[in-house]
Amino acid sequence: NNKIITLAIETSCDETSVAVLENGRRVLSNIISSQIDIHRRFGGVVPEVASRKHIESISYVVKEALEEAGKTFRDIDHVGVTYGPGLVGALLVGISYAKGLAFARGIPLNGVNHIEGHIYGNFIEDRELEPPFISLIVSGGHSHLVYVKDYGVYEVLGKTRDDAAGEAFDKIARALDLGYPGGPEIDRLAEKGNPQALDFPKSYLEDGSHDFSFSGLKSAALNYINQQKMKKQPIPLEDMAASYQQAIIEVLVEKSIRCAKEKNMDKIVLAGGVAANKGLRALLKKRGEEEGIKVQYPSLTLCTDNAAMIGSVAYYQYISGERSPMSLNGVPNLKI
Ligand code: KG4
Ligand code: ZN
Repeated sequence: NNKIITLAIETSCDETSVAVLENGRRVLSNIISSQIDIHRRFGGVVPEVASRKHIESISYVVKEALEEAGKTFRDIDHVGVTYGPGLVGALLVGISYAKGLAFARGIPLNGVNHIEGHIYGNFIEDRELEPPFISLIVSGGHSHLVYVKDYGVYEVLGKTRDDAAGEAFDKIARALDLGYPGGPEIDRLAEKGNPQALDFPKSYLEDGSHDFSFSGLKSAALNYINQQKMKKQPIPLEDMAASYQQAIIEVLVEKSIRCAKEKNMDKIVLAGGVAANKGLRALLKKRGEEEGIKVQYPSLTLCTDNAAMIGSVAYYQYISGERSPMSLNGVPNLKI
């Protein structure tokens, strides 16, 4: 029997997720228990509430993941767990559970970087996908352009200097009373709006920089909202969403294309919660076609936080002989 069975745990933010994988790319189960309904009334994730909810859910989610996979604890070869970046209290719940399981069963533990996990969502989606490629990782907590040279070998080409792309979506959605998380709602409204209706700043930063900055755009949008309110003028929601979204995705797409050209890569792989954005998918695909660059992205469940993507990273660590110590701790600001 040469099949490696991974049990993976993800609790870095507001989803308690557990997955069981076979050989790192075949998902036997991927259970996601979302706390979004609890945090929604606060307009964002409340860290202390998130930790408590993870504690309540983790054992049940593990049980469900094993059942759906048709496995028991005895079938598990190693345990993978997110150890950063994320909310430290939330991370610790998953880490403690993972350590307990690894210790009790006498099996290895693999601590996983959440951002790496997002990239690996693509290896699950497309089992033929191999490095090297350029990856654009955009989520609620991070925005990175990474040159993936090989499994576990990365060069960060650019990252955000202030807000993450998902934050930029969520903060404006909040100012517009669109609820939390706001990204999906802006996406939905933008489909019906005119992206040229309002002129928002697109920040490309200095020549040659692959970094991002969304704070200027956010301020411009907040100013516009306030002005409309002062003038007692309605905000054209669909045009506003479309124009605002366009200002974000145009920069993301152009910088991704530039990185691909600079590194002579003919493949760009999208990852992270914002990769679910329909406008971003379409524009990147279109620009890719124009430039002869193949663009791919995972299905929606593998874009947003889930444990299967964590399990995939853990598997590649395991087969390369990497092990995490029992002293593994949560690292809230872990870098890729
Ligand atoms: O990867 P993820 O689930 O969690 C983090 O690791 O942060 O990403 C969540 C982020 C949120 O900011 C959410 O608004 C954004 O992804 N998001 C979207 C869409 N779906 C989720 N942003 C724009 N358009 C979407 N369709
Ligand atoms: Zn994430």
